[in-house]
Amino acid sequence: MNLLSSARERAHVEIPPYIPGGNECALFEMAWTRQLPLLLKGPTGCGKTRFVSHMAARLGLPLSTVSCHDDLAAADLTGRYLLKGGDTVWVDGPLTKSVRDGGICYLDEIVEARKDVAVVLHPLTDDRRILPLERTGENLVAPPGFMLVVSYNPGYQNLLKALKPSTKQRFVSIEFGFLPKAQEIAVVSAESGLDEARVAPLVELARRLRQLKDQDIEEGVSTRLLVYCAALVDSGMPVREAVKAAMIEPLTDDPDVKVALLEVASGVIA
Ligand SMILES: Nc1ncnc2c1ncn2[C@@H]1O[C@H](COP(=O)(O)OP(=O)(O)O)[C@@H](O)[C@H]1O
Ligand SMILES: [Mg+2]
Repeated sequence: MNLLSSARERAHVEIPPYIPGGNECALFEMAWTRQLPLLLKGPTGCGKTRFVSHMAARLGLPLSTVSCHDDLAAADLTGRYLLKGGDTVWVDGPLTKSVRDGGICYLDEIVEARKDVAVVLHPLTDDRRILPLERTGENLVAPPGFMLVVSYNPGYQNLLKALKPSTKQRFVSIEFGFLPKAQEIAVVSAESGLDEARVAPLVELARRLRQLKDQDIEEGVSTRLLVYCAALVDSGMPVREAVKAAMIEPLTDDPDVKVALLEVASGVIA
């Protein structure tokens, strides 16, 4: 527990606000204390990234976030030799830096990355907790303060983009969904500045639109979009226009579906 209290003493940065939907804060803290890697699953815009930055600040840990994409290779995480004024020097990648210094390394949308990334993560995510750097010949042992956190969106029905069981089974996992109504109203109001009474119908509409997921639309309205919508209303935009711009247009390009969604909206907002 010493590790935790000394880290807390170092926490002097402002903590990004986060309203929990369940026991995820306690789980994160325990995983960190026991040196277990963590996997966050859930749709886009439901608070995963905010949760990690909140917990990092709360625990007083440095946070390094990498947004994975289909070109991201293991060397982008571990590091590479670069030419500098005639010399070749080794430059640590963000994962190596985190392992050397301790702290949280957050790999967002891990399934997007190239396959060789999993090879690097495997020895780091079992009890060895090592990062072998073939190119430098080093075998870095992660310090107790190092924690690996990854996220992915299981909603995309793309088998090629599914996380392999052999990788999945190395992480303590938390499923993120959309918050219960009252909490989501509180989040959207706090993030946008719009009062809760005016946020409530927007959240109600989002919840109805989410029920259409998989029928007419691929993904439901995210909390992020709700925050955008409320921010537009707070800036003086008429509710209907804000709803169309922030909650309907981003969901679909199909004109018929759009008409149907606008009809749902008319039933909820004045
Ligand atoms: N539980 C929450 N507490 C506070 N803000 C939240 C919460 N969930 C979502 N948000 C808001 O939604 C936005 C998008 O969340 P984010 O963490 O970026 O989503 P994800 O990483 O899951 O795609 C945040 O910037 C924040 O404004
Ligand atoms: Mg994110």
